[in-house]
Amino acid sequence: MIKIDYTNVMADMIGEINGILKEEILFFKDFVKEIQEEIKNERNKSFFFTQLPYQDTSLIKEVANKIREKFDFFVLIGIGGSSLGAEMLIQSLKGLDFNLNKKPKFFVMDNVDPEKFDTVLKQIEIEKTCFNVVSKSGSTVETIANFSIVLKLLKDKLGENWKNHFIFTTDPQKGFLRKFGKENNIQLLDIPSYVGGRFSVLTPVGLLPAAVLGIDIDDLLAGARKMDFLSSEEEKIKENPAILLSLIHYISNVRKRKTISVMMPYSERLSLFVDWYRQLWAESLGKEGFGQTPVKAIGTIDQHSQIQLYRDGIKDKIITFIQVEKSDIDYKIPEDLPEEINYLSGHSLHEILNKELLGTKTALVKSKVPNLTITLDKITSYNIGMLLYLYEYATGFSGYLYRINPFDQPAVEEGKNFTYALMGRKGYENKLKEFKKLYKEKYLLKIV
Ligand code: PA5
Repeated sequence: MIKIDYTNVMADMIGEINGILKEEILFFKDFVKEIQEEIKNERNKSFFFTQLPYQDTSLIKEVANKIREKFDFFVLIGIGGSSLGAEMLIQSLKGLDFNLNKKPKFFVMDNVDPEKFDTVLKQIEIEKTCFNVVSKSGSTVETIANFSIVLKLLKDKLGENWKNHFIFTTDPQKGFLRKFGKENNIQLLDIPSYVGGRFSVLTPVGLLPAAVLGIDIDDLLAGARKMDFLSSEEEKIKENPAILLSLIHYISNVRKRKTISVMMPYSERLSLFVDWYRQLWAESLGKEGFGQTPVKAIGTIDQHSQIQLYRDGIKDKIITFIQVEKSDIDYKIPEDLPEEINYLSGHSLHEILNKELLGTKTALVKSKVPNLTITLDKITSYNIGMLLYLYEYATGFSGYLYRINPFDQPAVEEGKNFTYALMGRKGYENKLKEFKKLYKEKYLLKIV
């Protein structure tokens, strides 16, 4: 079960300067209908992610079972949309101790920071490791660099047997990984053509690692299907979670100048959910001068770090809290405490967590800061399926409100192209010239 409580974004709670009037939401009624029609026509194209909840998962489960039987370590080599979704699923559904006394242990090689790469290598035994190389384009610098080093290490250690230690998840037709994988008879899994990185968590990109770690991926998809039904079919705005979420953020942004969207779960298991959301919201909607800056905060930790600013600084934020009603693990505070602290006696850590959230929300209302709360009764694969799909649909829908394409990332590509040029890639000679024209160290302070 998921609840969305948007009381504290409404004008009758926090006033019209910061809060939204019911009429401001209903104003979009006809436009919502038009957009929903357009999305229906795009379900087999740009909105192909809406088909993913209905897929057959038997191949993914078969491959995952083989990995679980044969390997003690599972390393994902990929970055951005090719790693964040899997990490988010594993942390939220397997808990913070997902590698403790368990097999296979899961690691990610995303960055090209040699320290990070080395730390992963030190924790695995390469002959007992399956490497899942994930890249839609099949050519991302970080992924290909990390893969190339691992390939050499495997060849040196295992000879011809190196091939059995790789699984490639990539575009069904194009790219270096697809070509190399085919030539070398490596197990290949497809990312559907129309699905880009940040919308790919429900393809083998997220589902294979999740299944390897023992997550019920069918239940995850069942949650996503439920949310797809509500998001695409429900006509009443107030009953449609994705449209409501999208409109609340859009109106807050363009009419109330809330240019920052903070997401603050009161559950550390959902910490990587925020990283995943940050990419989805920023890379999809940050275009042509539009978009809200997504910011990560964690309750209660950031109450002691950020809330001062959120309450009393510039009124440029809308905050989404995520609350979990029931926790699998809890600790009770002893009864026999000294008088000064005995107000805590008999309560539990989870109870304090949720009471602190209530206190923080109320303090924000007093300062007229818009905030909404998404409550999960428990962290289950079904609920996480609903939650992630809610944000995917809301993001896609928001693209129509801002009149931008939520599925491309031209500003990211530019940085990648300059990197290719700097690394001497063929065909990027003009980019190198452009780089030399643009790059300057004109005002520099050197301190020794
Ligand atoms: O969402 C996106 O498209 C990006 O974040 C990509 O996932 C990221 O750049 C990695 O790209 P690729 O999967 O092609 O290696």
